[in-house]
Amino acid sequence: MQTVDAAPPPHNPDNTYFLMDEAALRRRRNLKWSSYGENVLPAFVAEMDYAAAPAIADALSRITTNQQYGYPARSGSRTPDSVARLYAERMSRIFDWRPDPKNIVVVSDLVQAIFTTVLAFSKEGDGIAVQEPCYPPFRDAIVSTGRLFTRVETVDDGNRLSIDFDSLAKTIGPQTRLLMLCNPHNPTGRVLARQDLEKLAKLALAHDLLIVSDEVHCEITFDQFRHIPIASLDEEIGRRTITLGSAAKSFNTAGLKCAFVHFGTAALRDLYLKAFPGRVIVPGHVMGIDATIAAWEHSHQWQHDVLSYLAGMRGLLMQRLGKDLPGIRVHAPEGTYMAWLDCRALGLPSPVYDFFLSEAKVALSAGQTFVTGGEAFARLNFATSETILSEILDRMTHAVRTRA
Ligand SMILES: Cc1ncc(COP(=O)(O)O)c(C=O)c1O
Repeated sequence: MQTVDAAPPPHNPDNTYFLMDEAALRRRRNLKWSSYGENVLPAFVAEMDYAAAPAIADALSRITTNQQYGYPARSGSRTPDSVARLYAERMSRIFDWRPDPKNIVVVSDLVQAIFTTVLAFSKEGDGIAVQEPCYPPFRDAIVSTGRLFTRVETVDDGNRLSIDFDSLAKTIGPQTRLLMLCNPHNPTGRVLARQDLEKLAKLALAHDLLIVSDEVHCEITFDQFRHIPIASLDEEIGRRTITLGSAAKSFNTAGLKCAFVHFGTAALRDLYLKAFPGRVIVPGHVMGIDATIAAWEHSHQWQHDVLSYLAGMRGLLMQRLGKDLPGIRVHAPEGTYMAWLDCRALGLPSPVYDFFLSEAKVALSAGQTFVTGGEAFARLNFATSETILSEILDRMTHAVRTRA
């Protein structure tokens, strides 16, 4: 488990204060807990079933108490510029990567950033290379805007899932403009090692590709695995990389809206702002900006406690799958709170998402939304309480054992 800041905080004996029971979660009425009926346990969309850090709750209640609903201040400590500086400082402190605050554009969220970078840095008919399985908005952003989704295969080397570098080298053609990465990888949970990043960098240089690297899960890694921003490899790679990040995954604030796009050069930033002037892009909402500041400045203990708990849930998941559902092939996620379940050996009715929903009353994310032909795969979000995760696994085990 990664402790993200320099000095580990003191151990907090009451370290599960962020857990919420099922009734409280259902009252949240968010996408995760309102998309299915009361008899279904959701394990899909990438957010955590945990209460946000106390400092975030305080920051948000200050906004409502003081009725801060007017135009936000343009200078001072709660502006897009100041939160961009915090992002740069944090990346530098945690990952030894030094983004230039002047080359950061604050946006609403990363799906907006994925679409706008595709639109700004490629044209219709251009190829964009992406590892499959992939986070579904990558494909949407490419296909719906008339770009070519250039599929890069994933290989299972017995220990881990990896980008198939032979497939990548073969698929890059003269029309390929962008290499879109997701690291740590959603949905496989893979954290790219330095040698993988170096291979990617070499290919990007050889084929003159821009790299768009979605690193939103960078602060959620386990055991010995450590995130390395690809932009930190060397100056030349840094200059051709656009990095996407936010506090939303590690601090559970996706609904509040504040995210960062870092451009490797001022020229790339200017190209982007020419396509999407600052007045068009919502530069983070008041709540998102304040929540991000509260997360990064005052929520270290919470983050430490949640990461410890997540490491426990990952252990529980792997132990239960090995014992009760050995037909499911899964590699322990190196990062993210998602596990990519290969259910092919179980011979379940297809798609397995439908099977688990109807027979186990568990809503996973459907494999076919991440990879064409992925009906025998599903993604499971394990960022929940031990009680709920155990119940999810009990239900899945029972459904598999008793299927007709
Ligand atoms: C890799 C990745 N990028 C982006 C997002 C979405 O980020 P946002 O909520 O900022 O649009 C997610 C959410 O699951 C994700 O996993």
